[in-house]
Amino acid sequence: MTTLDAALSGTFSIGGDLTVNRLGFGAMRITGKGIWGPPEDPDEARATLRRLPELNVNFIDTAESYGPHISEELIGEVLAPYSKGTIVATKGGLTRTGPDVWPQLGRPEFLRQGAILSLRRLKLDVIDLWQLHRIDAKVPAREQFETIAQLQKDGIIRHAGLSQVSVAEIKEAQKFFPVTTVQNLYNFANRESEDVLDYCEANGIGFIPWFPLAGGDLVKGHADAQAIVAKHNASPSQIALAWLLKRSPVMLPIPGTGKVKHLEDNVAAAAIKLSDEDFATLDKIGKKG
Ligand SMILES: NC(=O)c1ccc[n+]([C@@H]2O[C@H](COP(=O)([O-])OP(=O)(O)OC[C@H]3O[C@@H](n4cnc5c(N)ncnc54)[C@H](OP(=O)(O)O)[C@@H]3O)[C@@H](O)[C@H]2O)c1
Repeated sequence: MTTLDAALSGTFSIGGDLTVNRLGFGAMRITGKGIWGPPEDPDEARATLRRLPELNVNFIDTAESYGPHISEELIGEVLAPYSKGTIVATKGGLTRTGPDVWPQLGRPEFLRQGAILSLRRLKLDVIDLWQLHRIDAKVPAREQFETIAQLQKDGIIRHAGLSQVSVAEIKEAQKFFPVTTVQNLYNFANRESEDVLDYCEANGIGFIPWFPLAGGDLVKGHADAQAIVAKHNASPSQIALAWLLKRSPVMLPIPGTGKVKHLEDNVAAAAIKLSDEDFATLDKIGKKG
């Protein structure tokens, strides 16, 4: 029987003061197709959220744009008042005009309204971690960063993060506020953000890899990786998650699902400890892939 406990993934302190178990949960998938509207099975989505504290998953990632609003509303409905130590991180800066459509909007008044309305939906007094979903190229970056700094000064948000950014963009934002997390596309098979991860690790910034399970397909298709899967009696996706957790102490994977069974499968990865040798074998396969 596999131990289901996200605490086995170890901890990370966001901004030095909010300690979470590193294996978190992505709440984008508790919405409808195209991340639009309510989920196909709302009861199952609610049950998935209810299972999080039981599994010690205390880092939840969402965004105002998921649904839109549906993901935040469900989290507020099911989990508030939150168990001690639970951190709900949300994001703003994207609008929604239909399924799978995500226009950017970084105007200061929209970012500020977004954070204030996220507070209401999440039933919080302060957002522990608010992330700029994208830097909007149509608006001067300085204005977006100043808005974040002001939200912090006003006590609406505690810590702030960025999403899908380069090292240069992080450095620019750091002139305005402490960047405590970065959320970029990254997984076993997609290493385009390797330099960003290294910068985050060197600077104690939490790195939240989105689409973390995508590496599972590459694990499945490679004999040496399959041998490691078999040795751990695991699934390819679990090995892809275990690889992420070993890659860096600042790594905070947030696999997303609207299903209890899938959540449990993902949390089970926290118990898998890869040897240095297995890590290196997988690393080579992932880099080539
Ligand atoms: N910052 C950004 O721009 C950005 C972009 C995308 C995502 N995100 C965040 O990152 C999180 C994770 O990304 P993601 O949801 O795109 O990718 P992911 O977690 O790698 O994969 C999610 C997909 O895998 C399925 N799945 C999950 N667990 C499974 C399991 N154990 N067995 C089989 N299938 C499983 C899910 O479907 P089921 O629901 O059927 O399980 C879903 O289709 C999101 O929830 C969101 O919070 C951020």
